[in-house]
Amino acid sequence: MKSTRVETKPYKNSEQLKSKARETTILGHHAKKYRLITPSESANLELIRDFIGKLAYRAGFNGDHVSKIQLAADEACTNVVHHAYEDIPAGPIDVEIVVNRDKFQITVSDKGVGFDPEKFAQPDMVEYLSKFKKGGLGIHLIHTLMDEVTFKIEPLRKNSVKMIKYVHKPESADKLRQQEIILRETKKRR
Ligand SMILES: Nc1ncnc2c1ncn2[C@@H]1O[C@H](COP(=O)(O)OP(=O)(O)O)[C@@H](O)[C@H]1O
Ligand SMILES: [Mg+2]
Repeated sequence: MKSTRVETKPYKNSEQLKSKARETTILGHHAKKYRLITPSESANLELIRDFIGKLAYRAGFNGDHVSKIQLAADEACTNVVHHAYEDIPAGPIDVEIVVNRDKFQITVSDKGVGFDPEKFAQPDMVEYLSKFKKGGLGIHLIHTLMDEVTFKIEPLRKNSVKMIKYVHKPESADKLRQQEIILRETKKRR
């Protein structure tokens, strides 16, 4: 991406973030890039949600899709808050968004302990539903809500999940059914 201008300014919408959060915009020929870095605290999840919501609307998604994108990102950021900095000093949640004409890409990164994302990609839903388990569906939910999901794990350096949603891609009936099941279970078991 060729950038023509870079702005770094405080992201003003929350008192909680004070000067630590920045919205960075790189205006390229066909792509825009935005970045919000916050301390890894659940108090900042709402701000991240608003940040993503505004950009997703602007990218042309309808309300239903905006909610799905926000939910996927929220699961990724909640994982950073709950799991990334377990037993080590808390670091940042780094949210980067790249918007092209046809796609919306969110990358959530942390500098935490890392994990094996393959282990959680496709839980056995029959087994899951037969037990009254709590949690454990976040990564599966991200895969179900977004079109492409890629994890890159470098413990204590950069662990990231890149999530892409295409602006004009319809969701298959199968995907919608999967989303319905997992959303219902997620709500029940919170
Ligand atoms: N950013 C992260 N850093 C470290 N571990 C993570 C991270 N994201 C997920 N995990 C690990 O993957 C597991 C599964 O995550 P998830 O599917 O969201 O379920 P839950 O958060 O309810 O446990 C977590 O329990 C945790 O062990
Ligand atoms: Mg989770």
